[in-house]
Amino acid sequence: MRNNSNHAMFPEANHDEQALQNYIKTLRVHSSRHFHDGNKKILAERLEPQLRRKTKNRVPSRKAVREAFMGEEYHRWWSAMLRTTQEMLYDSVGPSIERQLPTLVHKAKALKGERGSLTLDDKITTPSYLAAVDMHCKPGSYMQELTDDDVFPGAEFDRTFRLYSMGGLGPNLDDGGWTLIAWLKKAFPNFKPKRILDLGCTVGHSTLPYCDAFGKNVEVFAVDVAAPCLRYGHARAVAMGKDVHFRQANAEALPFADNSFDLVVSHALMHETSTKAIRRIYKECHRVLKPGGVTAHLDGITPHDLYEKFYSEWMAHNNNEPYLGTVQDEDFDGILAQAGFAKAKRWVSSAAPQFKTHENDDKPVKEYIAVAGQK
Ligand SMILES: C[S@@+](CC[C@H](N)C(=O)[O-])C[C@H]1O[C@@H](n2cnc3c(N)ncnc32)[C@H](O)[C@@H]1O
Repeated sequence: MRNNSNHAMFPEANHDEQALQNYIKTLRVHSSRHFHDGNKKILAERLEPQLRRKTKNRVPSRKAVREAFMGEEYHRWWSAMLRTTQEMLYDSVGPSIERQLPTLVHKAKALKGERGSLTLDDKITTPSYLAAVDMHCKPGSYMQELTDDDVFPGAEFDRTFRLYSMGGLGPNLDDGGWTLIAWLKKAFPNFKPKRILDLGCTVGHSTLPYCDAFGKNVEVFAVDVAAPCLRYGHARAVAMGKDVHFRQANAEALPFADNSFDLVVSHALMHETSTKAIRRIYKECHRVLKPGGVTAHLDGITPHDLYEKFYSEWMAHNNNEPYLGTVQDEDFDGILAQAGFAKAKRWVSSAAPQFKTHENDDKPVKEYIAVAGQK
């Protein structure tokens, strides 16, 4: 796995910091590649047959599987190790970013204004589902600011996400973007969107592919509630030579006119929202789409795979991602229908990741779900 991006905003790591981060990444690859297999064996050979006997052969619920696993010593050991490596991930990156924060803030300011735009809005409040936890154990989550014009959470996300994804999302961490683009091109072969909006962009990893995927004359917009991620994301896009209009906004109440976009997308946003918010977001997508426009949302949701479903339930309980369990059981077709998309214009299907993982790495997402509607 390539450890570092080569864009000018990417935070550096000195020898010792890099060594520690490599160690954590290797530990994660090792624990996900080998120790998941032990859990899978326990589920297939012992827990699932036991649970099915109790429920007249019905597929066990994610809650029942999680509770059954709690009685397994191997699982408890695995669980403690995974939670600990997640905390170590942030512990290994945070101090390194803090040490170089003044330089990063300065670099972001210097790059600002060269391409695209950045519009922040200090009246935006953080939704309670994001404010309530340090999302996936990220200290301060996406929005905590330590200094004026802070970029810390964005810089930290760029480095930790690289380690967290263990090389499985490609050198620019943009597998989500390219996967959804491939899905869209297959589903709508003649579709040539000109105005594109990405919701919950964080630092724009999945946004940037849209600058190139549908021809040159496109306008790409990206929103997130987290100002420090947007500051970093804008500077990163400029450093990578891309024009994106970043705007601080809540996807539940978008600051854009009705009928103003050809394409509205998101990547890994859905599972970090809530039962109420996801429905509001789809309604907003319908409102801002032009007639004939398409909305498409990608996420690592695999409801038909009992082990992956349990793993999401585990993360909801142990990795501070509260909606990740519930979202596995959502009726996405119903959500599209409620938002105003007609029956013949709704799609809920799987999408295969585009990036081919290096043999020494591991893939964090084996399969995505794509949820789409056309207005
Ligand atoms: C897992 S990250 C998304 C990663 C990013 N899309 C990518 O592909 O690299 C989830 C992001 O959604 C943002 N978010 C969650 N709820 C939101 C909302 N209601 N409006 C805007 N952004 C939101 C969070 O701040 C966070 O940056």
